[in-house]
Amino acid sequence: MRYDFDKEINRLNTSSVKWDSTEALFGDKDILPMWVADMDFLTPQPVIDAVQKRAEHGIYGYTIRPDSYYDAIIGWMKRRHNWAVNKEWICHSPGVVTGLSLIVHAFTQPGDKIAIQPPVYYPFTKVIKNNGRQAVHNPLKFENGRYTMDFDDLKKKLDSGVKLLIISSPHNPVGRVWTKEELTELGNICLERNVMVVSDEIHFDLIYKGYTHTPFASISEAFAQNSITCTAPSKTFNLAGLQTSNIIIPNKEYRLSFQKAVNALSVGGANPFGIVACEAAYRFGEDWLDQCISYLNQNLNFLIEYIDQHIHKIKVIEPEGTYLVWLDCRELGLDAKKLEELMQKQGKVAFDEGYIFGPGGEGFTRINIACPRSILKEGLKRVEHAVNHFVSIKNS
Ligand SMILES: Cc1ncc(COP(=O)(O)O)c(C=O)c1O
Repeated sequence: MRYDFDKEINRLNTSSVKWDSTEALFGDKDILPMWVADMDFLTPQPVIDAVQKRAEHGIYGYTIRPDSYYDAIIGWMKRRHNWAVNKEWICHSPGVVTGLSLIVHAFTQPGDKIAIQPPVYYPFTKVIKNNGRQAVHNPLKFENGRYTMDFDDLKKKLDSGVKLLIISSPHNPVGRVWTKEELTELGNICLERNVMVVSDEIHFDLIYKGYTHTPFASISEAFAQNSITCTAPSKTFNLAGLQTSNIIIPNKEYRLSFQKAVNALSVGGANPFGIVACEAAYRFGEDWLDQCISYLNQNLNFLIEYIDQHIHKIKVIEPEGTYLVWLDCRELGLDAKKLEELMQKQGKVAFDEGYIFGPGGEGFTRINIACPRSILKEGLKRVEHAVNHFVSIKNS
């Protein structure tokens, strides 16, 4: 089946965080929302069919996860990621961020140190701080337009008594797909220091041509035993609202601790629509995903060319994965709040501004390109207008 990713679908009045909160969040109902990480595309037809079929039944009571659900996850991990996952490793959480919070509860105490690699997905910091733990920063290095991990700094930071390291793999917002070598070096540093790795791999299916995602736990048995991997079909297939994530824990002791945290908060239930959607996506969604990645690749090329030709003060940090693109706006010479104002007030575009991702994010912004090209073009036109107007006033 050929999917039409160019088709604009009106999401207003669907209680969409992205489209129905513009007034509440930005005070402007005409702002173009290109921030939160969901897609303006229909989910694959087999997923829609499965959800409709389940909806037609009309009884939505307490729900179990059938064997076929686990088989679908196991099949996906093997086919798409060459990762052999056992059924009993698969634990559950409504969202991945809830999963991170449960992990923080299960494996650390109030006041403990947890390392992250900013600029990084800002809920990492929230989960750590809201649970009374301390965030320790191991900032990414940015050299010659490319981000890498700073292993020397990581060793120092972990030696200061860190209990957990949470990584974003692939990395949101900088778009790196960490190589096996990078992950191996990171994993060894953590093993030597007895620090557990929490690998948030929610973007793992959205990888551009020429790059390969390596599940951290697939690298070695020692890494598998020293890690927890957070996965979900939500980013891949645009199912975030269905609140169905799979937290993969090969270490039996860790699994029991995680389960205890799940039970303590009673968040182990299954969403009947989430489980049929996840199963259908992993069984029948591959064709859609390949077409979606190809469309995203074209959107990315369109954005790179557009910015190169029309918005000279912005540089694109070319992502290797994810539909989020990190834009370097530092040449504009604006502080974080002024840059935000330029985009939102003059440009009428809502991006996720760089400063919210922590140190190293100031002067950057993040755009979501998982939308029809017409919307992307409109967003870029608005940025072009705002930025070039600003530059011409500055130069006059
Ligand atoms: C790295 C990362 N983790 C987790 C999430 C959100 O996960 P969930 O909606 O399942 O809590 C996102 C969403 O953007 C993300 O980028």
